[in-house]
Amino acid sequence: MVADDALDRVLKLLASPPVRPEVSHGYLDLLGEEGTHDTLAQRLMRSSGLPRIYEQVWRPVLFGLAKGGPLGPSTDQEYALARAWLDLAATPGATVLDVACGPGNVTRALAEGVTDGGLVIGADASATMLSRAVADTPASAPGTAEVAYVRCDAADLPFADAAFDAVCCYGGLYLFADPWAALASMARVLRPGGRLVVLTTHRPGLPLLGPGLAAVSGATGIRMFGARELTEGLGAAGFSAVRRRSHGLMQLAGATRP
Ligand SMILES: C[S@@+](CC[C@H](N)C(=O)[O-])C[C@H]1O[C@@H](n2cnc3c(N)ncnc32)[C@H](O)[C@@H]1O
Repeated sequence: MVADDALDRVLKLLASPPVRPEVSHGYLDLLGEEGTHDTLAQRLMRSSGLPRIYEQVWRPVLFGLAKGGPLGPSTDQEYALARAWLDLAATPGATVLDVACGPGNVTRALAEGVTDGGLVIGADASATMLSRAVADTPASAPGTAEVAYVRCDAADLPFADAAFDAVCCYGGLYLFADPWAALASMARVLRPGGRLVVLTTHRPGLPLLGPGLAAVSGATGIRMFGARELTEGLGAAGFSAVRRRSHGLMQLAGATRP
């Protein structure tokens, strides 16, 4: 549930706060009837079934396979890496944005690394994912960060410039109609010196895999990013100090807003 004081804090971070905020579903809805573009993957994200199995079954199985099985980082290691690359331990009371938060699994993991007085906002376009995020997120205990959720489009984040200390985007970039606009939007809402961490797909430089991956990508709407494509895209969006590592068909990147 978006607690009243957390909602007030979210409204203060918006570039243009609505006159009558729509919060009847437990998250701040800034999209209304608007949807994201229509691919097979996006339809699944908006379905009522996927949010129920996403965190416990879908993500561990599919991300696990894509990361190379036991050779890749575990889910907990992914989450720990996000907290470390975002430098949350050195940012007391941080204000953090989790873009494409889905059912809030990463949002809650980020909140574990944020100290009292901090705020972690999960942002997503899917109403069904956000309903699940609200249901699965306990009220913040004393001494922990507050968590709130906002329904919005990653390519046009509704927050004021430099509103956040850190931005995370795990498992979302490959679904967006315009991932480069989304990265530019994330750079805009980060304060100078603020950190970004991204987990997305990786197109390995193996020519034999190319046609198969292109076919899957075309059929599902899941974009595969080359290694240089991602680092160059981060640079073009205004980020510096880019670091990157790949694990099978997934890659992680960290960067700083100068
Ligand atoms: C696979 S889930 C990722 C959940 C979580 N971040 C994780 O790593 O497990 C991807 C999410 O991206 C969201 N999404 C897709 N396009 C979006 C957009 N344009 N703006 C905001 N969220 C979007 C979907 O609704 C979905 O909940």
